[in-house]
Amino acid sequence: MDPHSTGDLFSDEALQQPARREQIGEQSYVLRGYALPWLERVLPELRAVLAQSPFRHMVTPGGFTMSAALSSCGELGWTTTTQGYRYSPLDPERQQPWPGMPPILRELAIDAASAAGFDAFAPDACLINRYVPGARMSLHQDKNERNYNAPVVSVSLGLPAVFLFGGHQRSDKTQKISLFHGDVAVWGGVDRLRYHGVQPIKPGVHPRMGPQRINLTFRTAG
Ligand code: SIN
Ligand code: FE2
Repeated sequence: MDPHSTGDLFSDEALQQPARREQIGEQSYVLRGYALPWLERVLPELRAVLAQSPFRHMVTPGGFTMSAALSSCGELGWTTTTQGYRYSPLDPERQQPWPGMPPILRELAIDAASAAGFDAFAPDACLINRYVPGARMSLHQDKNERNYNAPVVSVSLGLPAVFLFGGHQRSDKTQKISLFHGDVAVWGGVDRLRYHGVQPIKPGVHPRMGPQRINLTFRTAG
């Protein structure tokens, strides 16, 4: 057995603190380290998804190339076109369905939703964002989904990020929340449409994930 993989497994577990749930809004939480015990099962599946539908930089309807690269898995994937943002059953690069959502990813998302008070989460879309140092995500609402009954479940991997959690108006004050490898943020209910974004990622190399941050966002889109 590769001694490094065993080392990683133990270091992930050693890092894991007793589940800490931080409330960041009326129906929003950060579950610190929640994903760590899942990662040995999640990362190989994620790698397989990305081998099928690799990261790409999408161009917004306004003509800007997004600094985060993205991919998707699940029945629906989030895409940009000149017309706007939408969910599509096909990966536009390949004109093929997105890779299926691996059961272990779905399970993690459902468990985390439930730990944040949202039972019966049924995600059909997992957006995968990759941020290299300097990449960011400007303030936006997640509002391309058909309805907003289901929460958004967001898993952070790799380099830390400063997550901006705003209000219902773009101009509302934002809270700055540091998100680390293995943290899961969940927002839903009255907080479902709150503006959020990610500040530019600081340079660094994560011992497990390398010089990048990967974020998985699960939603019920269709
Ligand atoms: C997103 O809002 O789609 C991504 C959020 C994150 O990367 O933490
Ligand atoms: Fe978002």
